[in-house]
Amino acid sequence: PVPGWAIDADVVVVGSGVAGLTAALRCTAAGLRTVVVTKARLDDGSTRWAQGGIAAALGEGDTPEQHLSDTLVAGAGLCDEGAVRTLVTEGPDAVRRLIGTGARFDTSATGDLQLTREGGHHRRRIAHAGGDATGAEISRALVDAVRDASLRTVENALVLDLLTDEHGNTSGVTLHVMGEGQHDGVGAVRAPAVVLATGGMGQVFSATTNPAVSTGDGVALALRAGAEVSDLEFVQFHPTVLFLGAGSEGQQPLVSEAVRGEGAHLVDADGVRFMLDQHELAELAPRDIVAKGIMRRMRERGAENMYLDARHFGAEMWATRFPTILAACRSHGIDPVTEPIPVAPAAHYASGGVVTDLRGRTTVPGLYACGEVACTGVHGANRLASNSLLEGLVFAERIAADIAAVAAAPRPEPSTARPPDAARGTADSTAPLPLIAPEARLTIQRIMSEGAGVLRSATSLGGAAEALEAVYQDSLRPADPRKPAQPGVESWETSNLLCVARVLVAAALEREETRGCHWRDDFPERDDTDWRRHLVVTLGAGRA
Ligand code: SIN
Repeated sequence: PVPGWAIDADVVVVGSGVAGLTAALRCTAAGLRTVVVTKARLDDGSTRWAQGGIAAALGEGDTPEQHLSDTLVAGAGLCDEGAVRTLVTEGPDAVRRLIGTGARFDTSATGDLQLTREGGHHRRRIAHAGGDATGAEISRALVDAVRDASLRTVENALVLDLLTDEHGNTSGVTLHVMGEGQHDGVGAVRAPAVVLATGGMGQVFSATTNPAVSTGDGVALALRAGAEVSDLEFVQFHPTVLFLGAGSEGQQPLVSEAVRGEGAHLVDADGVRFMLDQHELAELAPRDIVAKGIMRRMRERGAENMYLDARHFGAEMWATRFPTILAACRSHGIDPVTEPIPVAPAAHYASGGVVTDLRGRTTVPGLYACGEVACTGVHGANRLASNSLLEGLVFAERIAADIAAVAAAPRPEPSTARPPDAARGTADSTAPLPLIAPEARLTIQRIMSEGAGVLRSATSLGGAAEALEAVYQDSLRPADPRKPAQPGVESWETSNLLCVARVLVAAALEREETRGCHWRDDFPERDDTDWRRHLVVTLGAGRA
């Protein structure tokens, strides 16, 4: 669509979670004219829903080196060690600066940060706020800071595409805005630097912890712009999502890993703790191992869910330490004080995304990516719990520093974004880009949950690929040619979902091994000979 209005800036940040708002605040502090555009309200998005906390070596006796080691183990051989080292060494100060920005974390009577444990961490290193409402507090603090800084924001703005100049350099974004007065309909923010901080793509599956806005818009935009995307097959399924019945769809309530960190047990319907013989850390094994343990037990028992038993916490601890989860459970008729919580895995986090270097640069000049949309290399094949808020913080600060440096420099160096040992993925770069009707959204989600969920095989993924292709072909030839899909937020979002779903399935099909959160029934072993490498995908510009 042709933009009907334009705003000029030095940098446009797309998204308003921890990554986007931190980048925007730092860019503003560096004197750059900064505009934040966000799809819903400033505090919508995944950050607000984060429960457990933010991981950093802040506790006595803990070190970045130990945090590094736990992160590399969870990442199952595919982390970029340099990126992880950056994360864990810059992390503690980044958290302190976040506290300086106004985020209030839980502290002891003596004023020390309270730290908890989560899966894969050998130490207590997860700072939390409001008990189990860490993301909500971080979001509140950052939104307040953005308002105090009078930062320019445009809400209800769905980003459409990247604008580039005749040399292929970023020159802004087009977006569609609803109900925001003078800037309504399709417009543009013109800026030489664009920071994608659009979050994840959990809505590509039918059951997810992600809010409705997590539709993979940033990855789809980056693909259309010709940027490299990597590791999309590594979708993390959170092991303990409140089970609301088979076939429950949309955003599902999370039951934080921190509940296990504080001593809850995973049990089957007979009360047997089944993780004890699966890993030395039992319920606190890395997330992929716990999710697999639950799925295996569900298969063995023909059950639809397992249980998280934390009755021993007692009423007071539940109310003070996990008020959000307690309220969510009770609103669904479950009282964790007196009964085990029914849980099952659901889609939670995209470990892959748009490839960046350590400055957050993608392979398209002037385009940056940060937070869940990015693939910085810190997560590898499986993100370590509570590393994501930290990644958003640390790399947002680096991006702001780079944009400020580029703005001040006559000739910036090019991006070095490229994972080591990258294998070039294949993707259809010649097909036209159809607009997908919103009615296809549920179909896409069901196809993905059925064929590309926790447990995958060539058969299930092949079926998913075929079914997605049928959705694509149907949109090229609508049943009633007089009624093709109409441009609008829902159809653009659905088009993005289909775009990322197809690339994800192709990568999952290609990776013939089990590693991290990619679990192939037909290739159950990790294969370091052939597969200790990344699958990188690029599409032709303007295609998806
Ligand atoms: C949780 O609280 O369990 C989520 C933590 C995370 O995804 O990092």
